[in-house]
Amino acid sequence: MDMATAFLRELFLCVALYYILRYVVSLLLPRPSPLPPGPLGFPVVGALPLLGSAPHVTLARMAKRYGPVMHLKMGQFGMVVASTPDAARVFLKTLDPYFSNRPVDAAPVRLAYGGQDLVFAEYGPKWKLLRKLCNLEMLGTKALQSWAAVRREEVGRMLRSMHASGRKGEPVMLGGMLIYTMANMIGRVILSRRVFETKGSEANEFKDMVVELMTLAGQVNIGDFLPAVAWMDLQGLEARMKKLHKKFDRVLSSMVAEHEASKGEREGRPDLLDAAMAIRDGAPEEEEEKLTDDNVKALLLNLFTAGTDTSAGTIEWAMAEMLLNPSILRRAQNEMDGVIGRNRRLEESDIPNLPYLQAICKESFRKHPSTPLNLPRISTQACEKTVPVAAMVSPRCAPTVYN
Ligand code: HEM
Repeated sequence: MDMATAFLRELFLCVALYYILRYVVSLLLPRPSPLPPGPLGFPVVGALPLLGSAPHVTLARMAKRYGPVMHLKMGQFGMVVASTPDAARVFLKTLDPYFSNRPVDAAPVRLAYGGQDLVFAEYGPKWKLLRKLCNLEMLGTKALQSWAAVRREEVGRMLRSMHASGRKGEPVMLGGMLIYTMANMIGRVILSRRVFETKGSEANEFKDMVVELMTLAGQVNIGDFLPAVAWMDLQGLEARMKKLHKKFDRVLSSMVAEHEASKGEREGRPDLLDAAMAIRDGAPEEEEEKLTDDNVKALLLNLFTAGTDTSAGTIEWAMAEMLLNPSILRRAQNEMDGVIGRNRRLEESDIPNLPYLQAICKESFRKHPSTPLNLPRISTQACEKTVPVAAMVSPRCAPTVYN
């Protein structure tokens, strides 16, 4: 046998031995969970460059190809995307204990006091306390009912202001007016006062700040997925976040300071901010969990931002769609004329009798969701459950986490 034949025989034996050993080891070791299907992406950056400027549209298109639950490699991390209601339900309800947290990446760190707010707080006693405060004072069914008069009054002010502009032949800037009205409703509920006395530059600046916050928080920040280059802030997003945070902090700090100074005026009828400040200052004693000054400001930030642009944007879209579809607008007006007449305003109690208007609202939520990718969730532990679906809310999770 010559040298070449001997070498080939050795090589063949080595390769065969390698595959036999690999097969045996794979039988002995636990198998890695198969990930849901998804695009391959590129080395290092993964699917990041595929997302484009409207990730929710790209992801919806991908879901048609890969199914309701997809896995995307996003830089250094894995991300699971659920794209149907059934799939989302699995993550948000069935697997809720695994996915009850949200990723605290650059946006909450820079904008929400290091994620010390209600939206990004880790699931636990502090989150429960913040949630309890909001439900008791503002968002629970009982609280919502008790604030009906505030909503009625503020909508009345907005309509009168629109009417006055119309009479003078001035254009009505609906988006700004809605944000300003929502902010005043929220201000009255949580601070016992309106936050904008007049429409104008102050309200416009606040609107711009809220829109900037939503825009920054909604963008895919490369540094969140490639921590090694995060310091470079390649898109300049973190620099903008820091600048915006300073502006918000000035407004929120002065709100808290004013509230402290006027505490005596609300003796016996504390509002949400009074209750939060009392817990921060050590009362009531039965409350074991305490809040910091940053927790209090971050909560105010959540409520003012989560409640203004979302509601205002949805209403603005509904109006725009009706103006583009006059037959729908006419049918909604006819329904209201039949149920309410022309001598009084629509009341919240009329809504059950206005099914067409309700359908318009639902269609606006469907067609123009204010947060199309929802808020991401992150798994806190490896999730080895098999789920009968696909699709999720766009959470970012460790690549080993999902089966
Ligand atoms: C059209 C109006 C609104 C839309 C479309 C909207 C949408 C959303 C969405 C998608 C979430 C995330 C839910 C999840 O991940 O499970 C959320 C959470 C939240 N929203 Fe809204 N929202 C609206 C109005 C409001 C208002 C008026 C307020 C209060 C003033 C508010 C306060 C909050 C808060 C505090 C959270 C966080 C809850 C938590 O993490 O436990 N939202 N909202």
